[in-house]
Amino acid sequence: MAELKKDEAQSEVVDATAEQPEAASAPARRGEPILQVRNLVKHFPLTQGILFRRKIGAVKAVDGVSFDLYKGETLGIVGESGCGKSTVAKLLMTLETATSGEVFYKGEDITRLSGRALKAVRRNIQMVFQDPYTSLNPRMTVGDIIGEPFDIHPEVAPKGDRRRRVQELLDVVGLNPEYINRYPHQFSGGQRQRIGIARGLALNPRSSSATSRSPRSTSRCRRRSST
Ligand SMILES: Nc1ncnc2c1ncn2[C@@H]1O[C@H](COP(=O)(O)OP(=O)(O)OP(=O)(O)O)[C@@H](O)[C@H]1O
Ligand SMILES: [Mg+2]
Repeated sequence: MAELKKDEAQSEVVDATAEQPEAASAPARRGEPILQVRNLVKHFPLTQGILFRRKIGAVKAVDGVSFDLYKGETLGIVGESGCGKSTVAKLLMTLETATSGEVFYKGEDITRLSGRALKAVRRNIQMVFQDPYTSLNPRMTVGDIIGEPFDIHPEVAPKGDRRRRVQELLDVVGLNPEYINRYPHQFSGGQRQRIGIARGLALNPRSSSATSRSPRSTSRCRRRSST
């Protein structure tokens, strides 16, 4: 069943399995969208054979998804397990290559970017992973985990300032900044999820993706846009 809900606070819930209606009921928006997704498609090939792999079909993980995301908006994608929510998030991060379709970040189609241009865009679209147990390296301290994005984008935080920035991020997500030298196993599941969020916020992204799964059959994928 098609479902696209928008409220006064400009948040949206999209049924990932459904066709999306026209944005007739959308609240008034100013400026250009941060993200524009157009007819996004991802088919994973199904193969058979060991030496000679031949294609016997495809999993249509994402099949024609379109939406706009404006500054300050929060958008949730809701659908049953396996309906393609995480795949959409990975396509937005260009961690998967789209079969077809376009993802415009501030007007530029990022599905066609590579090298330095892609790296620059990735700084602004961050992901919070679904499973805090497997997405945090158990051998790294929380400080190293949250500060790791600064190794890739050193221009965001000079080396001497990183510890302070990490402690600031711990505070932002409601964790004690003094926990900076602890390891992931010393935190609860919810606290680990917050460590992932702090890492996602480290580079001051314009947009971040978070995937979460409810224990029941319905799953949710929520994307957040920040200023
Ligand atoms: N690398 C892959 N190769 C083949 N099929 C894949 C691959 N990744 C995902 N899929 C398939 O694509 C479909 C969508 O997967 P996806 O992980 O996006 O689902 P989801 O909506 O996030 O589910 P959940 O709520 O359980 O996290 C599933 O059927 C999955 O089996
Ligand atoms: Mg998922």
